[in-house]
Amino acid sequence: MAHLLITGGAGFIGSHTCLTLLEAGHSLVVIDNFEGSSPEPLHQVAALAGLGPLEQLATGLWGTPDEPRQLLLLQGDIRSSSDLERAFNSSSTAAVEAVLHFAGLKAVAESIAEPLRYWDTNVAGSRCLLQAMATQGCRTLVFSSSATLYGLPDSVPIAESAPVRPINPYGHTKAAVEQMLADLAANQEGWRMARLRYFNPVGAHPSGCLGEAPFGQPSNLFPLINLVAQGQKPCLKIYGLDWPTADGTGVRDYIHVMDLAEGHRAAVQRLMNDPPQLLTLNLGTGKGHSVLELVRVFEKVTGRPVAWEGVERRPGDSACSIADPSLAQEVLGWATSHSLEDMCRDGWRWQVSHPHGY
Ligand SMILES: NC(=O)c1ccc[n+]([C@@H]2O[C@H](COP(=O)([O-])OP(=O)(O)OC[C@H]3O[C@@H](n4cnc5c(N)ncnc54)[C@H](O)[C@@H]3O)[C@@H](O)[C@H]2O)c1
Repeated sequence: MAHLLITGGAGFIGSHTCLTLLEAGHSLVVIDNFEGSSPEPLHQVAALAGLGPLEQLATGLWGTPDEPRQLLLLQGDIRSSSDLERAFNSSSTAAVEAVLHFAGLKAVAESIAEPLRYWDTNVAGSRCLLQAMATQGCRTLVFSSSATLYGLPDSVPIAESAPVRPINPYGHTKAAVEQMLADLAANQEGWRMARLRYFNPVGAHPSGCLGEAPFGQPSNLFPLINLVAQGQKPCLKIYGLDWPTADGTGVRDYIHVMDLAEGHRAAVQRLMNDPPQLLTLNLGTGKGHSVLELVRVFEKVTGRPVAWEGVERRPGDSACSIADPSLAQEVLGWATSHSLEDMCRDGWRWQVSHPHGY
């Protein structure tokens, strides 16, 4: 079992993946600056994994000192080489074998308002991380990429060979990091890397103890549906009822966050077992659901009505985005197992028990 560094491990996808990796027997050190999260998810992760409580070990460092499977949490920034050096050397017993890199900013509208901030965290932060990895002699990386870099696809389902044509600054930053990884793979020996292109992650851990807790106003559809169902927001805005789809609303490929977490476990395992390579894989279900379909399934599963109104399409949205996940299935021996009903049920359980986040 390996010792792994997780950047952004206190966030939505990172925290669920931490739990899956601990359950698989790995030891972890998480680095997170808590810009979009807090330490609380990691306390939940430790409890769900059956570890003792996280104790403060030093300034900005928490951990489970008496466990054979370590979980360490460092408050630090991926743009700081000294914070990264501290993360790499935080375990006295094990060297970091691989990095799973979730840290980043992810809101499209915010990236349009503040492109430099997105380039700084997502691109300069990734460059700083890669430099630290090279210095530490760790060349195995799983990177959180996004289906957003396909832009407006010519056809669906979308294979990894489809053109990379992002249409907003967030997408440009993901494409830039993907290119950085490709340049390393092509020009330096020994890098084992996976660029995982997520479609639409939703849902929560089935315990209801871990979930999505965005700071401020959420921009993703699923947290908004939850807030409307709970009466925290009056109405869901559906952007466009005139898309060329069966019911006129946009179609997306929703993936349960636990299936996504399992995809990361499989990817890092594959990289550590295989010779150096650069993998580029879609993580989605291969099934598309319209916004109205998601709303109806959510209402059926939860028994809660979701008030909605149709408004103008947003520039840059596409009618339909569905993954072709066959390459990930073949390469990783991985497949999704959660239905849209599961995503709604688990996401709602989290929302009911944590109406205002952690
Ligand atoms: N959630 C989605 O819909 C989605 C879809 C595709 C790709 N992604 C990508 O997956 C990754 C994780 O997404 P998420 O939904 O878990 O987001 P999240 O905001 O919940 O988690 C990101 C984490 O990174 C941390 N962070 C931000 N800047 C940092 C920095 N400079 N140094 C250290 N930590 C920092 C935040 O505090 C947060 O804990 C992101 O890179 C995102 O772009 C997300």
